[in-house]
Amino acid sequence: MENGAAKPVIVAIDGPSGTGKSSTSKAVAAQLGLSYLDTGAQYRAITWWMVTNGIDLEDPSAIAAVAGKPEIVSGTDPANPTISVDGTDVAGPIRTHEVTAQVSAVSAVPEVRARITELQRSLAASAESGIVVEGRDIGTTVLPDADLKIFLTASAEARAARRSGELKGADVNATREALIKRDAADSSRKTSPLAKADDAVEVDTTELTLAQVIECVVTLVEEKRAGK
Ligand code: DC
Repeated sequence: MENGAAKPVIVAIDGPSGTGKSSTSKAVAAQLGLSYLDTGAQYRAITWWMVTNGIDLEDPSAIAAVAGKPEIVSGTDPANPTISVDGTDVAGPIRTHEVTAQVSAVSAVPEVRARITELQRSLAASAESGIVVEGRDIGTTVLPDADLKIFLTASAEARAARRSGELKGADVNATREALIKRDAADSSRKTSPLAKADDAVEVDTTELTLAQVIECVVTLVEEKRAGK
């Protein structure tokens, strides 16, 4: 660009659970002065609303019928990301075991995905300096024209160990089984499954520290901005 401010940069970071997506995305956004969006939190928030309102989660048509009802608002400051449903702060409740166990079923419903995808696109379009958006289908479906697409992977063992650490004292084997089950459901659903975009850069984080992953992604964004 001539003289003016740098063009907003859109970074899509996808991958399964426990690959360090959230920690990496937040840190990259903070370091580069970009907004940050955790799309998993949005799917968890709509799931929390369905659970709280007694919606039959075995019935996709019941989920679809009310998908437009809750108002989900995401705060995109990487230093203080927030999530609310109908004005209630749900940052804590969306991390409960109950929501985690149900989120794949809710997020597989096309009407839910259409609703949440629209929110994601509008947040990305309004981010002045640019945004790091993390999820499962960002590079493939939500923002196919992103400037940079990253796909984070790690062995199932490494992912389970990281998640158990986060959940303090959780059993590693049980966490590993639950992760594998959720990833299988997220990868095999019909509507925009967890998938690597053809033009995504794959980063295997199994043997890397978080600091190394962050540095790698920051370098990739800077190279993009410099037009390399
Ligand atoms: O990243 P997370 O574990 O908080 O995501 C919770 C769930 O939300 C995950 O199991 C699948 C779903 N999800 C999705 O379907 N698409 C996204 N872009 C992000 C998350």
